[in-house]
Amino acid sequence: MTLNTEQNNALPDSTIPAATKIPEHVAIIMDGNGRWAENRGSPRITGHKAGVETVRGVIQACAEKGVKVLTLFAFSSENWRRPKQEVSLLMALFLAALQREVKKLHKNGVQLRIIGDVSAFNEKIQTQIKKSEELTKNNTKLVLNIAANYGGQWDITEAVKSLAKQVKSGDLEAEDITADLISQNLSMNDLPEPDLFIRTGGEQRISNFLIWQLAYSELYFTDTLWPDFDRQAFEAALTSFSGRQRRFGHTGEQIEKMKNA
Ligand code: IPE
Ligand code: IPE
Ligand code: MG
Repeated sequence: MTLNTEQNNALPDSTIPAATKIPEHVAIIMDGNGRWAENRGSPRITGHKAGVETVRGVIQACAEKGVKVLTLFAFSSENWRRPKQEVSLLMALFLAALQREVKKLHKNGVQLRIIGDVSAFNEKIQTQIKKSEELTKNNTKLVLNIAANYGGQWDITEAVKSLAKQVKSGDLEAEDITADLISQNLSMNDLPEPDLFIRTGGEQRISNFLIWQLAYSELYFTDTLWPDFDRQAFEAALTSFSGRQRRFGHTGEQIEKMKNA
C-alpha cells in the first residue's frame, strides 16, 4: 500500500508527537510539602522551603514549553486554620520569596499577579505585592498567578456582590445575568480558563481552589509530593494532557470532524 500526502495529512492526532499539544493555562495545587518534611523527620517549614525550589523549576519549564499562564495555589482561605507558628512561617516565606524572586521573574518576562483577598495580609506583604505587580505588569512571556488567601467560593461571592450592586443601582437587570457575566467578574477574567489542573500530594480534591474556572479543565492527580515534583514529573502531566480528547459536550466524532475541517 502506498501512502500519499493526502492520507498523511489525515493522520489521526495520536500519531503527532505527544508533547505538541501544550496547555495554554496550567493551574496547580502544590500539595505535600508538610508530609515531605515529616518523612525526613524535619519540621514542616523545611518542606515549604523545598517547595519554593520546585516552583522555580515549574515556572522555567512553563516558559520553555510555551505555557502562557501558570496559576499556583500557595495559601488557601482555609489555611489560616493551621497552627499559628506554621501560618507565620508561611507568611515570612511568602514575603521573602517575593522579595528575592521578583527581579529575576521580571528579567525573564514573567508577569506576576496575586489572586485572593490580599487585604488580610500584613502591610509589608501588601506593599511588596503591589510593587511586584507594578514592576512586572507589561511582561508577556508568562502570566504567573499566585493564589494567596484565595478561595473559589470567595471569588464567586465577590462576583455576585459586584453584580448585585449593579442591579441595585439600576445598571443591570437581574434577568440579564449570564454565566459569561459572572465569569467576567471573577479573578483572572482576562485570561483563558485553565486547560490543565494538577494536584500533587496524593489527595483527589479541589480544596476550594478555582471552582468556577475549572469547569472544563482536564484533571491530573499525582502522588508525588510537591518538593519532589521535578521536570520529569511535570512533563508526565503534559503528556497525559496531550493524549486527551476534550469534548466540551460534543461527541468524539464531532470533535474529529471539527479538527479536520
Ligand atoms: C501545601 O503543602 C502547601 C500549603 C498548603 C501552604 P501542605 O502543607 O498542605 O503539605 P501536607 O499536605 O501537609 O503534606
Ligand atoms: C490546598 O492544600 C491549599 C494549597 C496547596 C495552598 P491543603 O493541603 O490546604 O488542602 P486540604 O486541607 O488537605 O484539602
Ligand atoms: Mg496539604
